[in-house]
Amino acid sequence: MPRVIEAERHEEDRELDLSLRPVSFDEFVGQPRVKEQLSIFIQAARERGEALDHCLFHGPPGLGKTTLAYLMARAMGTNIRITTGPVLERPGDLAGLLTNLKDGDILFVDEIHRLSATVEEYLYPAMEDYKLDILIDKGPAARSLQLQLPHFTLVGATTRAGLLTGPLRSRFGVTLRLDYYGADELHQMLRRSARLLNVETDESGLAEIADRSRGTPRVANRLLRRIRDVAQVRGSGRIHGDTARDALRLLEIDDFGLDELDIRLLSALVQKFRGGPVGLGTLAVTLGEDEGTLEEICEPYLIRQGFLQRTARGRVATARAYEHLGFTVPSDVQSTFFDSKPTP
Ligand SMILES: Nc1ncnc2c1ncn2[C@@H]1O[C@H](COP(=O)(O)OP(=O)(O)OP(=O)(O)O)[C@@H](O)[C@H]1O
Ligand SMILES: [Mg+2]
Repeated sequence: MPRVIEAERHEEDRELDLSLRPVSFDEFVGQPRVKEQLSIFIQAARERGEALDHCLFHGPPGLGKTTLAYLMARAMGTNIRITTGPVLERPGDLAGLLTNLKDGDILFVDEIHRLSATVEEYLYPAMEDYKLDILIDKGPAARSLQLQLPHFTLVGATTRAGLLTGPLRSRFGVTLRLDYYGADELHQMLRRSARLLNVETDESGLAEIADRSRGTPRVANRLLRRIRDVAQVRGSGRIHGDTARDALRLLEIDDFGLDELDIRLLSALVQKFRGGPVGLGTLAVTLGEDEGTLEEICEPYLIRQGFLQRTARGRVATARAYEHLGFTVPSDVQSTFFDSKPTP
């Protein structure tokens, strides 16, 4: 059974991301606060004929950070170059990219929290004064050369804003946080995706998927595609509420959008560790999973839905987690007051 929520982005996902990516701000659903700020900031820069200020997007995976960077470039009528933090190993890698930009171009650095410390230091003057100091030769012949760079815009994206250093964070003029989407917003995106993928659906089918997509567009699109397969093989190909529900059961996605790994995590916490507190490392080893997957993919949603708490001493299961798994809530576990509907 393919796991539906995974840390690694598969080839299929990348294709899906590309084919379904909104091509204008109008198609970009939700995040009204982010869109409003960006549109003002883009219009102001355009009127002044200047490059945009450096901009940082942060938030959980699959909420539209990369998409927004592309939309910014399109709205500004400039080029965008894409790279990721871990790829820029040496200052030379950064220099190569920066010197090839033109005024106003966007350099998009994904996973910017994973930049090496050396590369990061080279980035500071580049961001601030559009200058880059490079060292030529080694030993006694070494000299440094200062390059003047085009007025570019750095757009950084990270799922882990907490890991960004203070100096780097402070060099972004604009910092925007993306939040999980509501079911109505996901429903709207799914309607468009179904049209683009030529999938026949009805409103109840779309609503069913939207409710279980963990507030995440990438998950919604992925579920749509998986459910389409099930509908095609087991039914008429059309996705109704019933087809969607059956397919979601087959995919082991529950009413809250929790998948098999989320459930394993909560079960381990409750059954093996008496509800915690337990450290992330121990949990990861117990589940045979990577810490990053648990921390970036599972936990933010479990916390948001009130199933899990992060405390100084480790992860703790809430009363709601016991209830969801069908266990009696121990008397020492405080009851949490969340409403019973998923609230992505
Ligand atoms: N607001 C939105 N409206 C419509 N579709 C969206 C929206 N946000 C994201 N998507 C869809 O979700 C997919 C994933 O978005 P994107 O790649 O921009 O996420 P991301 O935040 O960069 O994720 P990661 O942190 O994993 O890099 C996109 O291809 C797009 O189809
Ligand atoms: Mg991205």
